[in-house]
Amino acid sequence: MQRRPRRNRKSESVRNLVEETSLSVKDLIFPLFLIDGARQKIEVKSMPGIFRFSQDLMLKEIEECMKLGISSFDVFPAYPESLKNSTATESFNPETFYLKALREIKRQFPEVCLMSDVAMDPYSSDGHDGLVKNGKILNDETLEILGRMSLAQAEAGVDILGPSDMMDGRVGYIRNLLDENGFTETSIMSYTAKYASAFYGPFRDALDSAPKFGDKKTYQMNPANSQEALIEADLDFEEGADFLMVKPALSYLDIIKLLSDNFPLPIAAYNVSGEYSMVKAAAAQGWLDSDRAMLEILLSIKRSGAKIILSYFAKEFALLKS
Ligand code: PBG
Repeated sequence: MQRRPRRNRKSESVRNLVEETSLSVKDLIFPLFLIDGARQKIEVKSMPGIFRFSQDLMLKEIEECMKLGISSFDVFPAYPESLKNSTATESFNPETFYLKALREIKRQFPEVCLMSDVAMDPYSSDGHDGLVKNGKILNDETLEILGRMSLAQAEAGVDILGPSDMMDGRVGYIRNLLDENGFTETSIMSYTAKYASAFYGPFRDALDSAPKFGDKKTYQMNPANSQEALIEADLDFEEGADFLMVKPALSYLDIIKLLSDNFPLPIAAYNVSGEYSMVKAAAAQGWLDSDRAMLEILLSIKRSGAKIILSYFAKEFALLKS
């Protein structure tokens, strides 16, 4: 045998030399769940180790994470039913607790990269990402609402807007509106290829945001398709997105690779709630090692071509590396 691949695996130091992919806490964005009130820190039942925070304790959490080297956060709000309606008007009420918290985070920690979510579902009495009429999701009418929400978040000082709604044309619509209003510095990370996935279950528990009827298949993508991801990516690229995201991550590593091979923009992947919960559930049974599974998962996402990973494991990863 002339060629013995095992020689390059013979010791830790040789393995280090030939290692192709490395993970850094700088690659990660930590998603956080916000609730109204004070002194609240409530664990999400289906996501052990992940909490819903009121603003005061979220600020503490961010400070703690920054000490561990995490510098990017994506904040999602959980609204009570009483503040939801069919047109999601609470999303652009300047005094709403979500916008107040975003402003306060940027005031206290101007150096953090703060990302927000643009979609109707947390504020919608229908639990859908778009405007519902007669059981249908209206695309163009939704854009107007997403536009108002985006402007309100940009005014709050958010660094990156994350349209997660999958309406057609929203990246261009939001980009124009931001530019017309002087927010040329506000970035857009488009949820480019967001699939209609079972793995969002725990997130919808965390936000009480499950659809009240039907599913999200008329706007989120069919898990059977990859060509469609290229169409979505072309559009987002043309419409001015700064980052392209694939979501979920694990069942879609081929899509991450497809976009990273074909587009010069940084690719992000969202390691979603269900992907986190699966590991935690199995680890609680003693069926796998949570730390090792986490490292392997994050590494595989990076190896497939994602420059940026949104993950509920971010703090655990940072703790492990510190
Ligand atoms: C909704 C939104 C979802 C997630 C992020 N934004 C859920 C959905 O589309 O129903 C999922 C994130 C996760 O599962 O971790 N706009």
